[in-house]
Amino acid sequence: MKVTIFGTGYVGLVTGACLAEVGHQVMCMDVDTHKIDRLKDGIIPIYEPGLEPIVKANIDSGNLLFTSNAEEAVSHGQVQFIAVGTPPDEDGSADLQYVLAVAESIATYMSDEKIIVNKSTVPVGTADKVRAKAQSKLDERRVHLPFSVISNPEFLKEGAAVNDCMRPDRIVVGIDREGETRGKVEATMRELYAPFCRNHEKIIFMDVRSAELTKYAANCMLATKISFMNEMANIAERVGADIEQVRQGIGSDPRIGYQFIYPGCGYGGSCFPKDVKALISTSKQLGYKAEILESVENVNDRQKHKLFEMICQHYGCDPKNPGDTLRGKVFTLWGLAFKPKTDDMREAPSRTLMEQLWAAGAKVQAYDPEAMDECERIYGNQDGLHLMGTPASALHNADALVIVTEWQSFRAPDFNLIKEQVADQVIFDGRNMHEPSQVMDKGIGYYGIGRGKAI
Ligand code: UGA
Repeated sequence: MKVTIFGTGYVGLVTGACLAEVGHQVMCMDVDTHKIDRLKDGIIPIYEPGLEPIVKANIDSGNLLFTSNAEEAVSHGQVQFIAVGTPPDEDGSADLQYVLAVAESIATYMSDEKIIVNKSTVPVGTADKVRAKAQSKLDERRVHLPFSVISNPEFLKEGAAVNDCMRPDRIVVGIDREGETRGKVEATMRELYAPFCRNHEKIIFMDVRSAELTKYAANCMLATKISFMNEMANIAERVGADIEQVRQGIGSDPRIGYQFIYPGCGYGGSCFPKDVKALISTSKQLGYKAEILESVENVNDRQKHKLFEMICQHYGCDPKNPGDTLRGKVFTLWGLAFKPKTDDMREAPSRTLMEQLWAAGAKVQAYDPEAMDECERIYGNQDGLHLMGTPASALHNADALVIVTEWQSFRAPDFNLIKEQVADQVIFDGRNMHEPSQVMDKGIGYYGIGRGKAI
């Protein structure tokens, strides 16, 4: 089947590569000509395990094409995916200008029937706006062409996106039109996704608004689990309990489950913070106060300050007014990305921490297996930032070690080296990667999340 994808960001590129991998003829379109030129040469703009080989293989097989020509893109696919960004507006609501611009492009160039599929995470009701935008362009052109607008949200996780796309838990498709058109659109979507449903049916058909809300409900539920656990961790600290034992105790109940109950220094990334804010904003516009979601967000904002608070507690200063206590101190940061297996630093807890450390006059020596270039891009000229080539070199002449992202390579560090290099012999572990007693047995002070105070 011939498919066009607008937007070669995370979602668009992974979806395009995976659809090409199963044999569809995919054309990916982006207005960024530089990006398209590089993609044509197989140069991937993001770090995502497993993506580069399938992009290259499918460029070679001819199944994956790239263009920055909208007319060519529209004429290619019977199915037209919109997978462009929806960055948050100032009030937290999703900015739809790019989505609507694609709708307009499709209607400008289409000359036969199209199925327009919204893959971007968009507020409930956006399909109606896309339909209206496309229809007004067609009216302006004075042409009568049938088209459908449907919703097919994505559930990819950065770092595991190719696997999630090739082996989805579910494929949500929201279609509104009744009668013959609906049947035709359903059949096309079944055919498109048939290669991903070989063992059992994974497509869940529903109406468009329910599909749009499903995406937000899923992310908000996951964000809620995390904020809930962070709240429990803060309570655990105060009552003298260990959140890691509590986590195992509750996760063993299958109704709760082990996933997404890891406490830490706050959730980040391009999805949870944005989607929680957007649903709060949608609810507000409709006169409903989304109290749980507001709390989820507030707890997360507070949690992103947690590492700095632990540091201040250790050095005996007030986090709101640390004075000169931290001035000149050197903090090693292991991990900059918002989570492992990505180079993405959007809304990453490392950013909150670094900015607080710099404001207090401290220095940062940071190492991340993938996010160094991204850090350089964001904070290149920042005084007090040194990007180091290895985890060990980042320890050199440091006063304290802070673990911000749980990369596998930080799991079994050389504690003797840490003790030798880190002057104040203390680890602030924002991801509970280590057992406090094991670290303390080596003579190193340890602070974790929800695990009591350092000894
Ligand atoms: C998330 C969802 O998991 C995907 O299903 C969804 O498709 C995607 O958003 C999206 O909307 O595009 P992603 O943001 O890539 O995926 O990352 P996650 O693995 O969900 O992690 C998000 C954040 O939660 C990270 O900062 C992570 O460190 C944090 N987290 C996760 C915790 O603090 N504790 C946990 O137990 C799990």
